Amino acid sequence: MIQYSHLGCSFLYLLTSISLFGISAIAWNKESTPPPLPLLPLPTYSQLKWQQREIIMFLHFGVNTFTDSEWGTGQEDPKIFRPTSLNASQWAATAKAAGISLMILTAKHHDGFCLWPSKYTDHSVRSSPWRGGGGDVVKEFVAAASSRGIDAGLYLSPWDRHDRRYGRDLEYNEYYLAQLQELLTKYGGVREIWFDGAKGANATNMTYYFDEWFAMVRELQSSINIFSDAGPDVRWIGNENGFAGSTCWATINRTSLSIGNASIVDYLNTGDPRGTDYLPAECDVSIRPGWFWHKSQSPKKLTQLLDIYYKSVGRNCVLLLNVPPNTTGLISQSDIHALTQLRSTIDTIFSVNLAAGCSVRASSQRGVGFGPENILDGDHLWTYWAPKEDVRGSGQRRNQDHCIEIRAARGGLRFNVVRIQEAVGLGQRIKRHDVYVDEKLVARGTTVGYKRLHRIEAGEVQGSVVRIRVLDSRAVPLISSVGLHFDPLWAAHIKNQSVT
Ligand SMILES: *[C@@H]1O[C@H](CO)[C@@H](O)[C@H](O)[C@H]1NC(C)=O
Ligand SMILES: *[C@@H]1O[C@H](CO)[C@@H](O)[C@H](O)[C@H]1NC(C)=O
Ligand SMILES: *[C@@H]1O[C@H](CO)[C@@H](O)[C@H](O)[C@H]1NC(C)=O
Ligand SMILES: *[C@@H]1O[C@H](CO)[C@@H](O)[C@H](O)[C@H]1NC(C)=O
Ligand SMILES: *[C@@H]1O[C@H](CO)[C@@H](O)[C@H](O)[C@H]1NC(C)=O
Ligand SMILES: *[C@@H]1O[C@H](CO)[C@@H](O)[C@H](O)[C@H]1NC(C)=O
Ligand SMILES: *[C@@H]1O[C@H](CO)[C@@H](O)[C@H](O)[C@H]1NC(C)=O
Repeated sequence: MIQYSHLGCSFLYLLTSISLFGISAIAWNKESTPPPLPLLPLPTYSQLKWQQREIIMFLHFGVNTFTDSEWGTGQEDPKIFRPTSLNASQWAATAKAAGISLMILTAKHHDGFCLWPSKYTDHSVRSSPWRGGGGDVVKEFVAAASSRGIDAGLYLSPWDRHDRRYGRDLEYNEYYLAQLQELLTKYGGVREIWFDGAKGANATNMTYYFDEWFAMVRELQSSINIFSDAGPDVRWIGNENGFAGSTCWATINRTSLSIGNASIVDYLNTGDPRGTDYLPAECDVSIRPGWFWHKSQSPKKLTQLLDIYYKSVGRNCVLLLNVPPNTTGLISQSDIHALTQLRSTIDTIFSVNLAAGCSVRASSQRGVGFGPENILDGDHLWTYWAPKEDVRGSGQRRNQDHCIEIRAARGGLRFNVVRIQEAVGLGQRIKRHDVYVDEKLVARGTTVGYKRLHRIEAGEVQGSVVRIRVLDSRAVPLISSVGLHFDPLWAAHIKNQSVT
């Protein structure tokens, strides 16, 4: 066996004719090696599906759209809700064109106005002139989404500034549960339910019966993810800028979390490597300054939106991007343009993997089926490179460095973004990693998770050998995909910086 030691890693030349032991054993035995043991906690089936969506669309729409406000008072006259040409198909078409597979609508915001004709209140579309009082925005939303193969999610605000039952624990919780049952039984499959922890500083004090709410949700919808500050399926990232921590674990201790608690935002932002619960984070942010549509506001610039993408999706999270319909009941052209630009830029950057066609090798390999070539296939979850288990015992380092190397077949590589993905189906593992190009350190990071994107600080790099070194992990690292990409906006940004 030929070993070649480099930057703390020993490489096994898998393809040399003199390599003996490990390789010949593999050649004789055609049976696949079983996968390594998973490292708890693990994602659920629905969490994995959620993670792969990457971007979800949020739609804030309601009386606030018509009063030019963000938080309604609850005193709004339902007659002000009168979108002139509401067309939920246009919302769904916008999402589809942006490659989005889940849309979440504010069925009821803090003002208490219901976008569906709830049996339990008259503060709803039933009392508005829209569709002659016979309209149901939730129904039109769900139908439009479903006809384009997009999944639906709903937001039902716990804080309700209109309903007189608010503040009386039993009565309000019964009312809230009744509305949850309406939303989760009348509109087909719902993939995410959003429990907002927001509440005004002077709001009436009351206790929400979260245990009953969550149990009811689970009973009525089998493949739903429950979002709240504290999960149980998806947690809040701790801010409304769309930024995850540069260290971001999907794992956390649920027992340390509570809803609407400002003292836990840093913990939410980074997660916990020792966390006993798999509870990945969602980064909610609006494409505009406000959550609701305001005539005076315009969408964020492409460079800002792309920065958000790198700091959310590129840090192991899902981006929940709000795109609010206007008073016409349509998504404004300027928002459609911003969203379309974001999607086409993401596609431009990531549809080409400059590492395709390169040769790859690793410091070790678990056995048949776990070779480093798996990092360049189209699967980003279930085919992965696995090194040999770390040797435990006296005289051995427990946590050996593990390396993977990409070598240009001919010519050189030129890129400014590195993408690394872990096989999170077997648990999030990597704690610390470095990226080298021709032996020069170009990026350094902590967690990886489902997806980690590094924009190289120094800008574009050129070289022929890219090495990813895992310096610390909770168990042997399992890497499902690596990409080398070129981001023209990042290149322009670096160029601008060097000019000024
Ligand atoms: C609604 O929007 C869809 C998608 O943009 C469009 O095809 C359809 O013509 C619109 N319907 C009306 C009534 O404008
Ligand atoms: C809460 O009440 C205090 C005292 O009445 C007032 O000064 C403050 O502006 C109120 N805050 C909000 C957010 O309404
Ligand atoms: C709110 O009510 C809970 C119990 O219902 C109580 O523990 C808490 O102290 C109250 N908070 C305020 C600010 O009144
Ligand atoms: C907020 O979270 C901290 C840390 O977990 C906890 O000590 C505190 O009791 C929580 N406060 C409330 C109001 O739940
Ligand atoms: C989370 O729980 C684990 C297991 O009980 C514990 O080791 C760890 O210290 C906890 N994390 C925090 C931040 O308390
Ligand atoms: C809402 O957006 C549509 C374009 O999608 C536009 O035709 C309409 O004028 C907008 N309404 C307002 C009030 O800006
Ligand atoms: C570079 O600078 C120019 C001029 O200031 C500006 O218009 C452009 O948006 C900048 N580009 C990036 C990617 O920062």
